[in-house]
Amino acid sequence: MTQSLCVEDVHVTFKNTCIIDGLSLSVDDDEFVSIVGTSGCGKTTFLRALGGLLPNSARIGRTELHGSALQAPEPRVAMVFQHFGLFPWKTVEENILYGVRVQGRTEPRERMERLLEVMHLGHARKKYPRQLSGGMKQRTGIARALVLEPELLLLDEPLSAVDAITREVMQQEVIELIEAEPRTALLVTHDLDEAIIMSDRIVVLGGPPAHVVLDIRSPIERPRTLETVRSHPEYLGLRRRLWGALESGRAAA
Ligand SMILES: Nc1ncnc2c1ncn2[C@@H]1O[C@H](COP(=O)(O)OP(=O)(O)OP(=O)(O)O)[C@@H](O)[C@H]1O
Ligand SMILES: [Mg+2]
Repeated sequence: MTQSLCVEDVHVTFKNTCIIDGLSLSVDDDEFVSIVGTSGCGKTTFLRALGGLLPNSARIGRTELHGSALQAPEPRVAMVFQHFGLFPWKTVEENILYGVRVQGRTEPRERMERLLEVMHLGHARKKYPRQLSGGMKQRTGIARALVLEPELLLLDEPLSAVDAITREVMQQEVIELIEAEPRTALLVTHDLDEAIIMSDRIVVLGGPPAHVVLDIRSPIERPRTLETVRSHPEYLGLRRRLWGALESGRAAA
């Protein structure tokens, strides 16, 4: 495996408050890594640092993708935001194609049609965000990131706005999309089961300030489905370890 993402000793400070305290992480090509941690520990801030969305003055440390520095937002990286980040004046279709148009790339019509289908958005393509449910907005955000075929996909709680049943269906769909076209991805989630089902590796953050409490390779190999994961002999043990790390991360903060 070649290394895709390298994060070394990243510190983030806002107005003299340390939010991330020396975080290091390296991720292999096509590895799917989940980041879990209690609310407010600095997960979104970490993804924003990787996406080049923080002012340089707030952040120090090395962040590299395939050997070159990540500093400003760039086409190699796509982010799905926790609170959607859609343009209210653009339709679903226009939101999905926004990044492609900004980058001056040829519109990937076939790819967009496939994503509209997989994300169940075909009927809503001409609708505006105000006409969509939370889940539809979130699916639009995911399609907008995937259409770009990024080298690094950053997902900030992408399924938090959907009900439990839709969530399980979408987890499976996102897994299938990722397995069909492997991609280096970091997923932030509060949901331990989601982390276990989606990930090759799980990183538990404690904080604030954010720091790594546990970094563990999943004993459950791909392909993972809800059924195979939940009946896997290692599932309960893994869940217990993650839970313990979450508790100790919170206690130490
Ligand atoms: N731009 C900012 N200026 C000042 N403080 C900030 C800024 N952005 C985030 N913070 C602070 O950094 C800390 C971590 O926030 P962050 O949004 O990264 O947490 P999180 O782990 O994503 O939480 P959640 O799980 O609730 O989404 C919080 O205390 C927050 O108030
Ligand atoms: Mg967050």
